Amino acid sequence: MKSIAIDGPAGAGKSTLARRLAGRLGYLYVDTGAIYRTVALCAIEAGADPADPAQVIPLLEGLDLQMSYGSDGVQHMYLSGRDVSEDIRVHAVSQCASLAAAIPEVRAFLLEYQRRLAEEQNVVMDGRDIGTVVLPKADVKIFLTASARERARRRLRELEQRGQAADFETVLRDIEQRDHLDRTRAAAPLRQAEDAVLLDTSELDLEGSLNALLEIVKGKVSS
Ligand code: DC
Repeated sequence: MKSIAIDGPAGAGKSTLARRLAGRLGYLYVDTGAIYRTVALCAIEAGADPADPAQVIPLLEGLDLQMSYGSDGVQHMYLSGRDVSEDIRVHAVSQCASLAAAIPEVRAFLLEYQRRLAEEQNVVMDGRDIGTVVLPKADVKIFLTASARERARRRLRELEQRGQAADFETVLRDIEQRDHLDRTRAAAPLRQAEDAVLLDTSELDLEGSLNALLEIVKGKVSS
């Protein structure tokens, strides 16, 4: 099986680009952030503090988390049989996911699940620790980034398109806060794997970024 690992900070365009790349190659796109978000939603709904291991760890045992793909290839997340794909995208869940993801037991619990997916099919998997921890032997590793201001601009546009009002400074602060949490946690922090190719998309549009990605994977995997 072939695997492509894409890591990087929030708002770097990982999911859009990884999905497009997977489509071009005929691989499965796995959004691992959605899995952490589902765990965070479970904690929120149980009234647990997502930052408190003593409250989150007991929830893992009974966690009924499933993932499936629609006929359009879109990844759906289910919590206890309920499709939560939309619910996990709200702002509160983003922050809580970052907190719950810092708990080593949560990461250990999800590790095998993610690895199994890559054993069963060719994947483009995106997240924070895919190239460093989940798939250290991935065929291609890419560290995708962009400046915090550019990432905040993109996130703001996305929110506006969804009709959710927000202001630039708040979005920028949230992004910087989440980056800090993801980079400084002890368990599998966000960092570029030594053998990952760095791609900075600050100056690139979507097509330009996708072409740069295709150039990186060319010759390393075939469709
Ligand atoms: O990619 P995202 O914004 O949907 O991810 C939500 C949070 O989940 C992110 O702040 C950090 C965490 N995460 C992680 O720790 N490891 C991953 N492989 C993916 C996401």
